[in-house]
Amino acid sequence: MAEMENPTRPGILKRVTTFFSPHATLFTILWILAFSSVFFWRQNVVDRFLVSRSPEKWPDNPEFRPFVFNLVDFGGVGDGVSLNTEAFERGVFAISKLAEKGGGQLNVPAGKWLTAPFNLTSHMTLFLAENAVILGIDDEKYWPLMPPLPSYGYGREHPGPRYGSLIHGQNLRDVVITGHNGTINGQGQSWWIKYRRKLLNYTRGPLVQIMWSSGILISNITLRDSPFWTLHLYDCKNITVRNMTILAPIYGAPNTDGIDPDSCEDMLIEDSYISVGDDAIAIKSGWDQYGISYGRPSKNIHIRNLVVRSMVSAGISIGSEMSGGVSNVTVENVLFWNSRRAVRIKTAAGRGGYVQDICYRNLTFKDVRVGIVIKTDYNEHPNGEYDPKAVPVLRDISYTSIHGEGVRVPVRIQGSEDIPVRNITFQDMSVGITYMKKHIFQCAYVQGRVIGSVYPAPCKNLDLYDENEQLVEKSTSQNVSDIDYSF
Ligand SMILES: *[C@@H]1O[C@H](CO)[C@@H](O)[C@H](O)[C@H]1NC(C)=O
Ligand SMILES: *[C@@H]1O[C@H](CO)[C@@H](O)[C@H](O)[C@H]1NC(C)=O
Ligand SMILES: *[C@@H]1O[C@H](CO)[C@@H](O)[C@H](O)[C@H]1NC(C)=O
Ligand SMILES: *[C@@H]1O[C@H](CO)[C@@H](O)[C@H](O)[C@H]1NC(C)=O
Ligand SMILES: *[C@@H]1O[C@H](CO)[C@@H](O)[C@H](O)[C@H]1NC(C)=O
Ligand SMILES: *[C@@H]1O[C@H](CO)[C@@H](O)[C@H](O)[C@H]1NC(C)=O
Ligand SMILES: *[C@@H]1O[C@H](CO)[C@@H](O)[C@H](O)[C@H]1NC(C)=O
Ligand SMILES: *[C@@H]1O[C@H](CO)[C@@H](O)[C@H](O)[C@H]1NC(C)=O
Ligand SMILES: *[C@@H]1O[C@H](CO)[C@@H](O)[C@H](O)[C@H]1NC(C)=O
Ligand SMILES: *[C@@H]1O[C@H](CO)[C@@H](O)[C@H](O)[C@H]1NC(C)=O
Repeated sequence: MAEMENPTRPGILKRVTTFFSPHATLFTILWILAFSSVFFWRQNVVDRFLVSRSPEKWPDNPEFRPFVFNLVDFGGVGDGVSLNTEAFERGVFAISKLAEKGGGQLNVPAGKWLTAPFNLTSHMTLFLAENAVILGIDDEKYWPLMPPLPSYGYGREHPGPRYGSLIHGQNLRDVVITGHNGTINGQGQSWWIKYRRKLLNYTRGPLVQIMWSSGILISNITLRDSPFWTLHLYDCKNITVRNMTILAPIYGAPNTDGIDPDSCEDMLIEDSYISVGDDAIAIKSGWDQYGISYGRPSKNIHIRNLVVRSMVSAGISIGSEMSGGVSNVTVENVLFWNSRRAVRIKTAAGRGGYVQDICYRNLTFKDVRVGIVIKTDYNEHPNGEYDPKAVPVLRDISYTSIHGEGVRVPVRIQGSEDIPVRNITFQDMSVGITYMKKHIFQCAYVQGRVIGSVYPAPCKNLDLYDENEQLVEKSTSQNVSDIDYSF
């Protein structure tokens, strides 16, 4: 593809990118005949050309930007073997010159596009066509190291630097990753094995990580088999994640969280399916002393209309790294199936920060071991220098319209003397349990209330109110512990 026009000239680019539109077909044929025969990838290009004439198989890619490019224009080869890092980098570089003109779109056509990590730019749309697969190279030599995240101090798994992400962005504005359900595949299998065998010297990299950025839209694609967390948004604002499929094996894929909003604000996650080897979603804001001094909360986060599964951890988590604080989170219309836990807030002394103003509404649990969890002794620390007196505040958390079946322990809220849980509300809850046993609505150091009737019967720690929110009975045993991990 060395003969391709200099990709920084917009006029020519516009022409090149109409490559597959009907009126350019003749031009296309001549072009392909003239240039392709000497290249080993010729068959691939001809296949693509033939496919392009069948609209059902390759629907037109919508154009979101004034300038639209194809990865092939930059030398990309979608054979699953050739390395396309430079093609991606050249595409991104061309788009980086177009910021003033509304930015550019990089189309990734059907094919398997192996690449090492690369960076995005502002005012960019990465569009993955149907059957387009971006494959992350699984040899760590190709993965650049980056400094630890400031709010973690550590690489999370190892001290010092960490691997960057396959698709990365820093200090960006207006970035869209979308498509006709193309896939970004991290080929995490070899990373998970190396991690388990302790062959890695640095923390594994996420699949997609965007830092210090705003105006992010990620939609209509599939993310799978990330080496580590799948989609990590770090200290970002104004983010929409919509209509996504996020997959990793439910066992044996360590730390493959689906989405990690980390010190982020104004974020919407909706209409997606997530089934992974760790938390489907984990809202975070930094770790112990590092997170406290970075001091950036996660707030104004709306999560709705999801189906999630997590056999190892939880469907939707807050924490355990929450030292910058987490507030104003709404989680609604979510089905949790075949999971170890549904919703979990996890923290520990040393974290500092707060989790407050959290609203869960219309959650359905289907075959879930433990439904609602708050855990205050999640003692995983970056080092011994955390301040055990930095205790998190947990308060103003409501659970409304919680239903389901096949649940072993519907509620396990374990506050402690140092970290009591305050102002919890339960309303309209009926969860079918797998076996009758006392103490399945477990509480310790919890203050709050139950409005109306809930099933199964609530713990004695909570005040009882009637349907009209009139006090019926005040609890005298808020701090009694009824926690039982034996089932
Ligand atoms: C992406 O940009 C960051 C920040 O400039 C840099 O540290 C990193 O090495 C870049 N990654 C790649 C793959 O170029
Ligand atoms: C979701 O994305 C798929 C492609 O991944 C598309 O076919 C479907 O129409 C989208 N649905 C919505 C509601 O956007
Ligand atoms: C997108 O692809 C994934 C994985 O191949 C599939 O599970 C999902 O159903 C597809 N989504 C749509 C809307 O076609
Ligand atoms: C990890 O470090 C050891 C000792 O320095 C070295 O032999 C090994 O190659 C390194 N492994 C990786 C994956 O970088
Ligand atoms: C949020 O980002 C979108 C682009 O994804 C942009 O259209 C919108 O104007 C931004 N909203 C605010 C309030 O900045
Ligand atoms: C996602 O797909 C739906 C249905 O095809 C479409 O309406 C929507 O605009 C797409 N979103 C993006 C950002 O491409
Ligand atoms: C809470 O977050 C929502 C977005 O989920 C936002 O619309 C609302 O303004 C926020 N409330 C406050 C008090 O900031
Ligand atoms: C509750 O959530 C389910 C999806 O889990 C949805 O189908 C249903 O419409 C929601 N109910 C209400 C009242 O919003
Ligand atoms: C208790 O929490 C609810 C939200 O769940 C909030 O509306 C209310 O103001 C809180 N009450 C107190 C006394 O803080
Ligand atoms: C329960 O413990 C908390 C702190 O651990 C304390 O503030 C509160 O007064 C105690 N409540 C009762 C009823 O003893």
